[in-house]
Amino acid sequence: MDEQHQQLFEQLNRLWALLIENHNRNEVIALVEALQDQTRAHFQHEEQSFHLLEEKEAMLHRLHHKHLLETIQGLYQFIPPNEPIPVHCTMDRLQEIAEWYQSHVLHGDSKLLIRR
Ligand SMILES: [Fe+2]
Ligand SMILES: [Fe+2]
Repeated sequence: MDEQHQQLFEQLNRLWALLIENHNRNEVIALVEALQDQTRAHFQHEEQSFHLLEEKEAMLHRLHHKHLLETIQGLYQFIPPNEPIPVHCTMDRLQEIAEWYQSHVLHGDSKLLIRR
């Protein structure tokens, strides 16, 4: 599970670096798609262990996952067709995602790891 977390952070870093470098539209879209797929796959994998949690905890954790996926989905609003990408806003949002995710791993996922 930690390896997947690592990969997701690397993916966020790649996207961040791309925005600084050239923010080529198609490349940004490809990375957002990859981030979305990887995150979804990771959450599905993680949720297979939710029987280890109390029902309330599992429900809350699931909601957190849903919220993050929606936030990643929301990145597409920063890639409007035929308009330049607002690089700074996109980077701010990425920063929020990274911080949120870090805290989720520390405070949410860690409970799951302890009970394994
Ligand atoms: Fe999680
Ligand atoms: Fe996780």
